[in-house]
Amino acid sequence: MTNAYDAAYARSIDDPQGFWGEAAEALVWTKKWDKVLDDGAAPVYRWFAGGELNTCYNCLDRHVDEGNGGRTALIYDSPVTGGQKRQYTYEQLRDEVATFAGVLAAQGVGKGDRVIIYMPMVPEAAIAMLACARLGAIHSVVFGGFAAHELAVRIDDATPKAIVSATCGIEVNRVIEYLPLLKGAIDAAKHKPESTIVLARPECEADLAALGYLDWATEMAGAAPHDCVPVAATDPLYILYTSGTTGQPKGVVRDNGGHAVALKWSMKNIYDADPGDVYWAASDVGWVVGHSYIVYAPLLHGCATVMFEGKPVGTPDAGAFWRVIAEYGVKILFTAPTAFRAIKKEDPNAELLKQYDMSKFELLFLAGERTDPDTLNWAEKILGVPVIDHWWQTETGWAIAANCMGLHRFPVKAGSPTKPCPGWNVQVLDAETHEPVAPGTVGAICIKLPMPPSSLPTLWNAADRFKQAYLTEFPGYYSTSDAGMYDEDGYISIMGRTDDIINVAGHRLSTGGMEEVLASHPDVAECAVIGVADQMKGQLPVGFLVLKSGVTKDTDDIVSEIVQLVRNQIGPVAAFKQATVVPRLPKTRSGKILRGTMQKIADNQEWKMPATIDDPVILEEIEDALEGIGYAASRKE
Ligand code: COA
Ligand code: AMP
Repeated sequence: MTNAYDAAYARSIDDPQGFWGEAAEALVWTKKWDKVLDDGAAPVYRWFAGGELNTCYNCLDRHVDEGNGGRTALIYDSPVTGGQKRQYTYEQLRDEVATFAGVLAAQGVGKGDRVIIYMPMVPEAAIAMLACARLGAIHSVVFGGFAAHELAVRIDDATPKAIVSATCGIEVNRVIEYLPLLKGAIDAAKHKPESTIVLARPECEADLAALGYLDWATEMAGAAPHDCVPVAATDPLYILYTSGTTGQPKGVVRDNGGHAVALKWSMKNIYDADPGDVYWAASDVGWVVGHSYIVYAPLLHGCATVMFEGKPVGTPDAGAFWRVIAEYGVKILFTAPTAFRAIKKEDPNAELLKQYDMSKFELLFLAGERTDPDTLNWAEKILGVPVIDHWWQTETGWAIAANCMGLHRFPVKAGSPTKPCPGWNVQVLDAETHEPVAPGTVGAICIKLPMPPSSLPTLWNAADRFKQAYLTEFPGYYSTSDAGMYDEDGYISIMGRTDDIINVAGHRLSTGGMEEVLASHPDVAECAVIGVADQMKGQLPVGFLVLKSGVTKDTDDIVSEIVQLVRNQIGPVAAFKQATVVPRLPKTRSGKILRGTMQKIADNQEWKMPATIDDPVILEEIEDALEGIGYAASRKE
């Protein structure tokens, strides 16, 4: 017996052109596409070739033009500033965005130019993103928890004409001054932006003119609104840098047409959202979830989106999410499991929930890391609504697998994000034979090409790296670098990454990038970083250091310096707080560090002595070192 999901899925695979061509009719195009799917350069595919549209028009102006300008578009709620709140209707947001587009245009920003946005969770961040989209400029948002060095790397790769920033971000316990970070990054970068526009926040005043920066408010006051500039569907909307296997991040490129089509489609079919609903993605605009589900998708669909400048706990308590849901009538919440683990730890019986009217709340979606059954069961129990784990990546821009609430509601199985979403031909392949494996068998999760709209068409400035990283290992497929399996019912489970990416509090980080920082310390001869299991954040990085011979410095001092170095180079978001000095690193005879075995020891899992190890005693030293920093290391009998 088929249901709406089965029918949609089958059609999306058998007739992708028909399926997505129909979905694209939900948008306003200034020129219709020539081809829904252009496969002329396979394995690189392009969606809606020949078509033209403007993403900002579809997010804002069209709702005003259709008579819905009075609807709420954006709700800003900021406990970290002492409770600031602000709302914008679609008409107001359109006007703000058009004016800021005028500000950027006056600085010479036009179609195809890059603009880096380094901002906290304030409406101006979304306004800047949409203003870029309005002009056909390409934004690249950099998360505020990254340090100056990471910002500099992105400035050099994206070569932006302008940077948009703010004087500060605000964490629970401190104000993060952005201007020293910004100055450090611009000084360090080879490329210099022509202009820097800064939002002055009352929590941190600064003499912007003295620094050569433009003041957001002054520029807005003198700007003329700018209209939407049509762009090719295949033109980039944004670049979002994400962790690769080295310190050089990957610039994931998102196009305009495919992105808008897939995101608009996802709102009803995956999230069961309707225009006018209040939709809240409790993430940050610096992450892909923030791009897709704080800014673009809810606005494309005519929903009210919530921008929350706060945390699940500590602003002021573990009832913050319930307060926001009740206050604005949120129907759908999307966040990371780690947020729920944080709430559960502080308020295990959800006492704070009793104070709030949750009657409008219908669905909770979780992503960014696997939802562990404990967290899933707890969230279901306290909220009494479906809790939906869904799996995706920065590269895809929307969910690869989900329980599509607007199509068919399958029973939830804890630990599984349910089934592939329409458009995603997900196969679990054997790493050696590249053939699909049987249900119940773990393999490499790959997507048979072509991938659906919104998935990355390339990496910025790195077309070869794109092919090498994603399309080469399994010809004809995109390799997700996640391992997993199907069960007999066609549910998929994601077991973890097959590369050195780790997931810390739902944030994607590269252990390879951290190793590069550790190796730059003058006393370090060799190093390794692994991700070890953590009850709250899912994983935490731990460093192993082999010191150069003759180093006599106190090892505690070296470890403190290393921790500070990672914080300064990558940023606090790396959550790198633990390292230990070891005499040597375990390696295979060919010199490969046995990170997998080290991780198993740290996670107190069973492990086997690798046949290829050069000296088994080294693993005992690792066991000792891990116990020395508080891990219940598993021991080889
Ligand atoms: N700017 C500056 N610093 C930031 C930052 C930002 N935007 N975001 C985080 N940081 C800092 C934190 O203050 C912390 O600093 P510390 O080492 O001095 O304590 C560090 O980076 C690590 O941050 P995080 O791992 O987020 O830990 P946390 O203890 O601050 O918060 C959670 C833990 C679970 C509450 C938080 O990670 C969370 O809400 N996560 C779920 C939502 C989410 O962001 N998902 C992302 C993808 S959907
Ligand atoms: P990011 O690019 O930051 O979204 O991180 C993507 C990675 O996070 C994926 O490749 C997975 O390893 C992991 N991930 C995201 N969502 C899930 C999920 N629902 N279940 C398991 N892992 C997930």
